[in-house]
Amino acid sequence: MRATWTPDSWRSKPIVQVPEYPDKEALAEVEAKLATFPPLVFAGEARQLKKELAEVAAGRAFLLQGGDCAESFAEHRADNIRDFFRVFLQMAVVLTYAGGSPVVKVGRLAGQFAKPRSSPAERRGDVELPSYRGDIINGVEFTPEARVPDPQRQLQAYRQAAATLNLIRAFAMGGYADLERVHQWTLGFVKDSPQSHRYQELADRITETLVFMRACGITSETTPQLRTTTVYTSHEALLLGYEQALTRLDSTSGEWYATSGHMLWIGDRTRQPDHAHVEFCRGIRNPIGLKCGPSLDPDGLLRLIDILNPKDEPGRLTLICRFGADKIESHLPKLIRAVRREGRTVVWSCDPMHGNTITAASGFKTRPFERILKEVELFFDIHRGEGTHAGGIHVEMTGQNVTECTGGATAISEADLSDRYHTHCDPRLNADQSLELAFLMAERLKQERAASVQPVAATAWG
Ligand code: PEP
Ligand code: CO
Repeated sequence: MRATWTPDSWRSKPIVQVPEYPDKEALAEVEAKLATFPPLVFAGEARQLKKELAEVAAGRAFLLQGGDCAESFAEHRADNIRDFFRVFLQMAVVLTYAGGSPVVKVGRLAGQFAKPRSSPAERRGDVELPSYRGDIINGVEFTPEARVPDPQRQLQAYRQAAATLNLIRAFAMGGYADLERVHQWTLGFVKDSPQSHRYQELADRITETLVFMRACGITSETTPQLRTTTVYTSHEALLLGYEQALTRLDSTSGEWYATSGHMLWIGDRTRQPDHAHVEFCRGIRNPIGLKCGPSLDPDGLLRLIDILNPKDEPGRLTLICRFGADKIESHLPKLIRAVRREGRTVVWSCDPMHGNTITAASGFKTRPFERILKEVELFFDIHRGEGTHAGGIHVEMTGQNVTECTGGATAISEADLSDRYHTHCDPRLNADQSLELAFLMAERLKQERAASVQPVAATAWG
């Protein structure tokens, strides 16, 4: 039996990957202040997301989760948010059409600031400094001053998250998400892509469907579901002091919810069952993600499922698998079998980014598009073989035309990486690569649909 949970019960557990703040008093002041700020999301929204994820777990919907590896203060601009939103919705339309089922849209944004690091220190030449841990903690500049953890940054992160969420909500509800408009953007992408012949047919079929719907009087003027949508927010629950300050008792249900985002996940480096991050997440009622990497064995996973979802609540737990294209076949099947054997309900999602990072000869961290695609394809193959639902995808992406991952239709080479390598942390898919991935996944989703005809829930777009 576990001890009683409280929002601060994590503080008595071992913890890794959190900064040592030099000024404890200043930190306590900031946390106290954050605790008085309004919540960023409403508990009812987190419950709604959980219901939608339950549909994913049941095989009747698909999860699309994506966004920056790390949001940054310097790039907090409307055009960045808008460009991400556009591509993200374009992907969602393609996946909705191909899968014939609703796509639950969850951004990695409006709070994705804190980063776990593989090494606590970074060395350049003779100089060694503490690693950059995300803008909510310290600065990316390679100077001793910038790398000191500064609690004031948490206030700026909160404000930035609020402003980002506000704009996303405005786009989603204010007409920018209009299905016909989103599809027009996609037609532009297809026309300009060197691989347009591969995408044309699917795009044409969506066009025909929209024309047919229009002829039947189903347009965004007559049908609000076609001009609005819902985009949820998510981030890694890493900086627990910040998370605790924004954890609130929901008066409707009498339960605790993290209100910094709709969904929070536990990183691959912080999922020790008896440590602080798992302790914090077990007590909040939001949907939770758990990163599953190669070091997680079936027993370890079952133990975490027991802690994080003891009542087997559908939609509560999403397993975000990130093994790498070369490791997924030796790891995923045994986890799937263990979960099935114990009769547990989870969403299976594929993060094809974090197991496929390599360092190019030039020194840039990159991810080859072919490996990303390969992991996604194997993810679908394995689930098909096991008879389980390949429920979602989790990607690091941006709406900008960056050169961070190699490959894709425009064939970014290792030599191109230095052109527009802007990420503060891991390499992201650029706008074209993101949409390409959606098109290439569309075939798989279509096959899944053919394999299991399921009733479609009513709110496919809205
Ligand atoms: C991430 O999602 O940015 C991340 C650090 O992932 P993981 O915990 O899977 O390494
Ligand atoms: Co990352």
